[in-house]
Amino acid sequence: MTSPLAAFEQRAKELLEPAHYDYFAGGAGDETGLAENEQAFRRLALLPRVLRDTRGRSVVTDLLGDPSAMPVFVSPTAFHRLAHPEGEWASARGVAAAGLVLVASMAGTVAIDAVTAAAREVDRDARVWFQLYLQPERAATVELIRRAERAGCTALVVTVDSPALGRRARDDRHGFHDLPVGLFAENLRGLPGTTGSAVRQIVMSPEFNWDHLARIRELTRLPLVLKGILHPEDALLAVEYGVDAILVSNHGGRQLDVASATLDALPAITAAVSGRIPIYLDGGIRRGSDVVLALALGATAVGVGRPVLWGLAVGGEKGVTEVLDTLRAELEHALTMCGIADLAELNAGLVTVRGAAARC
Ligand code: GLV
Repeated sequence: MTSPLAAFEQRAKELLEPAHYDYFAGGAGDETGLAENEQAFRRLALLPRVLRDTRGRSVVTDLLGDPSAMPVFVSPTAFHRLAHPEGEWASARGVAAAGLVLVASMAGTVAIDAVTAAAREVDRDARVWFQLYLQPERAATVELIRRAERAGCTALVVTVDSPALGRRARDDRHGFHDLPVGLFAENLRGLPGTTGSAVRQIVMSPEFNWDHLARIRELTRLPLVLKGILHPEDALLAVEYGVDAILVSNHGGRQLDVASATLDALPAITAAVSGRIPIYLDGGIRRGSDVVLALALGATAVGVGRPVLWGLAVGGEKGVTEVLDTLRAELEHALTMCGIADLAELNAGLVTVRGAAARC
């Protein structure tokens, strides 16, 4: 049976240019990491509780103080105008209508101030976070942060899993290395050391270390989320360096193919961080029950990336909202079926490994 979110992907695949579909859908190397992000959820199962009154439960939450209709946000993905002519304008409106936080990619085809403005047309309290790759030219990094601050973004999501771009065979096969004429990575306009028009122009550099992060911490009062953490030692360093939240992510399987599935990496990180800062996770969330599994294993909230792009491709702003509302309905249903009256009740005791009895 095709899940509602998978049906969006199938339709998007029919609609999009093959090179553009593959840019969004693809991963690095053999795409094992891409597949494993989803498979890791299928290897687990829930142990529902019964006879617990779950009426009146709410999934409304807050992410670093920002209101959110559920413990889900939209993870950053690049170049939305490849998916739909209204690109990030439509995604911003669609995410705001669903009452969620959009993490706008630095590699957006609409500038960040226009993205926040579009979100606020729908909900004047809509919250947008800005995803940032540290740039080798410090002046470029500083200017990107200032643009995000001026646009009214309420957190910075610093992606740290990209000392280089992943090796992506699908893009090579299509020769997809430049954005179509008329599209541009708008946040990079006028910045030193950037060009903005090539798909691979987002400068990724291996030179960065934790001292650079410390300088970002000094540069802005915005909360910092560190995206791309898989190792518990790095999670501990993030706490030490004053980061406000960690995003357990392998970049949707697009960077290092053999990097761990994010769900597999989560329990050790949950144990190491021990509640000191929120832990977010993205990668492979395709069902409301996936949200339940991740939260039970210690995530505070999860991000969805590709399903939002498929919604955008199929139905623009409305398609985005429909994908997110579908996920919320599934989450509510799974919580009811598990007897969860409050999100705080989710814990690892509700999770088991499929086939566990066979190992007894
Ligand atoms: C950009 O971050 C990408 O993964 O293509």
